[in-house]
Parts: sequence; structure tokens; C-alpha cells
Amino acid sequence: MTRTPIIAGNWKMNLLRADVAAYAEAMAAAGPPDAPVDVVLFPTPVYLGLAATAMPDWTAVGAQDVHAEESGAYTGDVAAAQIVDAGASWALAGHSERRQYHGESNDDVARKARRTLGAGLIPVVCVGETLEQRKRDETETVLDAQLGAVLEVLAAADGAGAGAVVAYEPVWAIGTGLSASPEIAASVHGHLRARLNGHQAGLGDSTRILYGGSVNAENCRDLIGRADIDGFLIGGASLDPSSFLRIIRLSTGSAGGS
Ligand code: PGA
Repeated sequence: MTRTPIIAGNWKMNLLRADVAAYAEAMAAAGPPDAPVDVVLFPTPVYLGLAATAMPDWTAVGAQDVHAEESGAYTGDVAAAQIVDAGASWALAGHSERRQYHGESNDDVARKARRTLGAGLIPVVCVGETLEQRKRDETETVLDAQLGAVLEVLAAADGAGAGAVVAYEPVWAIGTGLSASPEIAASVHGHLRARLNGHQAGLGDSTRILYGGSVNAENCRDLIGRADIDGFLIGGASLDPSSFLRIIRLSTGSAGGS
């Protein structure tokens, strides 16, 4: 099965209004890649509307987090409907920084992913083990628990629109400059795909599984060359549009976006 690659940039709590506008100009000037790829940017919620308006139409915009409830007294949080209303079409669920700094459990992540999907957004569910867990040989147990909590949502997403997306982001590789080797990433992706197929026939084949954690222009080609790696969720190297465009070009073999 051919899965359209995804190259996504997670800006986290970075960039100001002028940066977002300049980024959009750089993307528009580069033009669309001439290879099939979904390009998605995840700005801070304050700039979702700006990014959705300013970015060229061959890109999409997503939220870094969505509240699990539909609406109500949740000061500081953002509802899925508001994210849609701002022009976004994707949303992350369960990024490790949300799990770590906001105490989000597997169950919380599943509720968020369900809300995201229900609002018509494409959920990107993030999973990944810490260094301690990897050292204790708990990687598969941790990933199975994280993935297990969202299997029903991913199966539901499978029948809808762009389908389910999973991002494998080992915590020890995020922001450390120490990317997982293509061998490690490919083996984990293979495991996740098998788990998805085991839950529902074909779910693993249709689900796009992204790798995230210190992806850059130097390592992206080796990583995406692996059969089970369908694209990237990129933090640091997505903050500069020329770096992000370079990764799109190198990862897709596209002549555009240089
Ligand atoms: P990084 O972040 O590319 O800076 O390691 C990836 C992520 O957290 O999504």
C-alpha cells in the first residue's frame, strides 16, 4: 500500500507573529513540492488563525494540543471546535512534553484523540519511551500501553478522511541532537504497524507512522528510506523555513521547496 508521506513541523512554544508571517512567505516563495507529501505545521494556538490564513494552500496547519472536553470552564485550554474554527485541520495528541509537563495519561491522550477526530481534525497520536524505559528493556511494553489506549480511536479514524497517524518519538531523542538510528526507528515502526494490524486487519497498512526526535537535513534521508517510516514530526529543525523546506525536499526527492 502506498502511504503519502507527511512532513510536519512542531514549533512548540516558539516564534512570534512576524516570524510566522515570514515563514509563510518563505513557504509560498518556495512553492509546492513536486512529489506527493502532506506538509503540516503546528504553531502555538495564538497563531493558528494567522498561520492558517498566511500559509500557502499546499500546507496544512494543526494544533499542538486539544482539550478532551467539548467546551466549558477550562481556563487556558483550547477546544477542538475552536481549533477547527481557526482554520486548522490537524492536531497532536499525547506529545511527550504534554505527557511529562502536564501529566497526561494514556487515557487522557485517548480522550483527546477521540475529541480531535470527532471535530473533524486529523489526530497525530504521539508515543515514545524514555531513556530509562529503554535501558530497562521496557520499550515495547510502554509503547504497547500507549498505543493500546488509542487503538479504538485509530481504528475509527481509519474509515474517515486522511485516516490515522501515529508519531513515534522516543523521549531520549527529542531535542537532544541524538536521533534514533534508522535501525531502531524502523524496528519500532514495524512493531507498531504489526500491533495496529493485529487490532484490525489493514489498520497498520493504512496508518501513517511518523518518526520524531532530532530529525534534520543530515539524517532525514536515511530514516525515510526505511519501509515503515512514513514521514517526520520535526521540532528544532522546523523553526527555520529553509531548514524545514530542505528536509521536505530531501525526504521526498522533490525538486521544489529548495
Ligand atoms: P526535535 O523535536 O525535532 O526538536 O527533537 C521533535 C518533537 O518533539 O516533535
